[in-house]
Amino acid sequence: MKFFISQLEVSLSILIFNCQSRISQILKDFLFAKIFFLNSQFIPIKSRINLEDKYNFEDLKIYFENELKKNSSKAEMTHTYRIEMDTIHPAASHIINKNQKLIESYLGKNFLIEPAMYWRNFNIDKKYESYDIISNVWHQDSHDGNRMLKIFLLVNDTSEQDGPLLYLTRKDTIKNWPLLRERWSFNKEKGITNLKCEKLVGEKGNFLIVDTSRHMHRASIPNKWRDLYQVSLYPNWRKAKGRTTYSAS
Ligand SMILES: [Fe+2]
Repeated sequence: MKFFISQLEVSLSILIFNCQSRISQILKDFLFAKIFFLNSQFIPIKSRINLEDKYNFEDLKIYFENELKKNSSKAEMTHTYRIEMDTIHPAASHIINKNQKLIESYLGKNFLIEPAMYWRNFNIDKKYESYDIISNVWHQDSHDGNRMLKIFLLVNDTSEQDGPLLYLTRKDTIKNWPLLRERWSFNKEKGITNLKCEKLVGEKGNFLIVDTSRHMHRASIPNKWRDLYQVSLYPNWRKAKGRTTYSAS
């Protein structure tokens, strides 16, 4: 019964809101956003931070490589490996602080932050590209309503061959909705459709802030591997275990 209700909730959101999360959560977000006079949308921010000196990732990269070595069989099986950290990297704090006004105008004051993540995707065989292995099919993040922000930061120079993150503008998400709306369908085109899309490429330090619950996005397949550093932010009314109120450091 519970499963049936959640399926119904998702189907309604897909039909009404062009979103893949449960309609009860979307309505909750909608109501709170009205109460706190929040912006109705967040235009993705693409910008750059210089990852030198105090913002460098060298220590974290060494730590990650060591963890990866210890868990290489798991990484080989899943083609992806990620570590979570309770402390946020100074570079990410800087990005949040610099964009705090815009973030608060969308998520509200005292927004929440989840443990940051450093992750690596590995190459998968092209014949599997329509299967969801490394988040490589078009999807929205549907676990928590439709008001959240993710910061994706390039820690290495990343070209199109390195399997960058791809995403659609909200307009193109809606335009392509009939084709992409079912993440778990057997539609073979889902992972490989050659849509006009945005790509997080370029020099290390390039970053993107985007609402992944509204914008369709996916990983593309790297020739070898691709790293990303990720921070997730949620409105204060969406309390959940492990999330803490962000405070500028
Ligand atoms: Fe995602």
